[in-house]
Amino acid sequence: MPLRSCISKLKRDLPIFLVIVATFVVSGGVILLVAPSPSLIASASRETPLSFASVSKNISSAKWNTLSGGMPQLVGHRGEKAFMPEHSLGSYWQAALEGADYIEPDLGLTKDGHLVVNHNEYLGETTNIASIEPLAYLRTNKTWVDDTTGMNQTVTNEWFISDMTLEQVKMVRINQDAKYPWRPQHFNGFFSVLTFEEYLQTILNLTNALKRPFGVIPELKSPKLYNRGRVYDRYFEDRAILTMEHYGWANITRWINRELHADLNLQNISDAIAGLQRGPSAWQSFDLDTARYLAQHTDTPVVALVEKLPWAYTPKGLDQIAQFAKIVSSWKDVYLAGPAAYLQSSGISWDDSEIAKMGGFIRAKDLPREIHSRGMEMSPYTFYDSHQDMGYLCSDISSTAFCPRNRKEELFYFFELGVDYLFVENIVEASMLRLEYDNTLK
Ligand SMILES: *[C@@H]1O[C@H](CO)[C@@H](O)[C@H](O)[C@H]1NC(C)=O
Ligand SMILES: *[C@@H]1O[C@H](CO)[C@@H](O)[C@H](O)[C@H]1NC(C)=O
Ligand SMILES: *[C@@H]1O[C@H](CO)[C@@H](O)[C@H](O)[C@H]1NC(C)=O
Ligand SMILES: *[C@@H]1O[C@H](CO)[C@@H](O)[C@H](O)[C@H]1NC(C)=O
Ligand SMILES: *[C@@H]1O[C@H](CO)[C@@H](O)[C@H](O)[C@H]1NC(C)=O
Ligand SMILES: *[C@@H]1O[C@H](CO)[C@@H](O)[C@H](O)[C@H]1NC(C)=O
Repeated sequence: MPLRSCISKLKRDLPIFLVIVATFVVSGGVILLVAPSPSLIASASRETPLSFASVSKNISSAKWNTLSGGMPQLVGHRGEKAFMPEHSLGSYWQAALEGADYIEPDLGLTKDGHLVVNHNEYLGETTNIASIEPLAYLRTNKTWVDDTTGMNQTVTNEWFISDMTLEQVKMVRINQDAKYPWRPQHFNGFFSVLTFEEYLQTILNLTNALKRPFGVIPELKSPKLYNRGRVYDRYFEDRAILTMEHYGWANITRWINRELHADLNLQNISDAIAGLQRGPSAWQSFDLDTARYLAQHTDTPVVALVEKLPWAYTPKGLDQIAQFAKIVSSWKDVYLAGPAAYLQSSGISWDDSEIAKMGGFIRAKDLPREIHSRGMEMSPYTFYDSHQDMGYLCSDISSTAFCPRNRKEELFYFFELGVDYLFVENIVEASMLRLEYDNTLK
């Protein structure tokens, strides 16, 4: 079985995996992170909890500007993709060892109805699929709706998850995306693409090993593509909901046709992990119809991903989003450059009179107050590792306004604003900076 071979490979390489020494430059100083040895983990899981893994919302009594007043939560973006091939067993373990509060999976659906974890709807960028001869015939072009804009997009010469069986998906191995050559390449080829069930089991296994719960925050990618050709048009959403329910991360609040999903055949959860405390959960989707559906059918809070929707940054737009979402998420620069400048730079156009009717664009600095006052939280993305350009508009133009020059200035700006969740890479660095900021509040 592919998973078993992948796990035995991980076990063989666990010593190297855990002795990753990462150097992080934080505020001019150097912080060394040495991951614990396997024997420490083994003894810790039998006896006392690991102290490094206990950062929690209320570690200080200081009042943050978040909606809850507690520390903002760090979401490991695709696990820990700064160091490990994204969405792999290694990436999720690394995120947990670095103290992430939530660990993010992106969901897709195979042709034979298995939920799998991958960011893109296709596999060419992040796996070795191009070298697998028996899968060559699957390479094709596809057009579907880009959920971020509502416009059609075409991707050419790729291998699409929705065309493949689970057996075929399991033939490939995950690699670091070639766009990031500075990232460690050591684990390329080690890990298989995981099913959503394997992701959820991993979170429980991590809870068991590290004696702390982790939040799960699945994103449903391109539901209109994944629902194409299925027996009904919420097939993808319902399979995700039923799986989350089975593992204890969602309660179903409205009727779902379970009989149509009898073939899901969800695995029995072992006694060792069945009773473990579950961390919090949230759904994410750029498709707001899907986001609304998830909110109606479960009690799990929903993150509305609204990056390129001009109306979302107006008072009336936020009122509409607040009807179903508990968290609003957009590209981080919206909170610095402001909605209009960001949208313009992304080539998005809007009707000024429509925006004016909805109350006009909210200014960057007023967004947190406007969002919190509607009872919603904010989760901007993505806060990259320090090797990568931060990607702010202000770094390309000469501007007298504040522009972060390094990760400390960047994160401190967002901490001050009161963002509630941050999608981060190099999680330990973000975690150190969160503690440093926390100390300034005392
Ligand atoms: C957080 O607050 C709860 C309730 O006040 C308390 O029991 C717990 O020990 C606190 N945790 C930390 C890490 O301070
Ligand atoms: C996909 O698109 C490319 C570029 O437009 C084209 O050359 C190729 O023939 C197409 N492939 C298929 C399978 O249609
Ligand atoms: C997207 O493409 C489909 C068929 O390829 C078409 O029916 C639909 O109108 C297109 N949508 C947009 C927004 O262009
Ligand atoms: C979870 O842990 C159990 C027991 O060690 C193991 O059999 C299983 O393969 C693990 N699951 C995953 C997805 O790593
Ligand atoms: C599901 O409902 C139970 C009982 O009301 C509650 O304790 C639990 O927190 C809920 N789970 C989720 C994931 O919302
Ligand atoms: C789960 O356990 C039940 C009862 O022991 C068994 O009938 C069923 O086949 C098991 N399901 C799976 C997926 O193994």
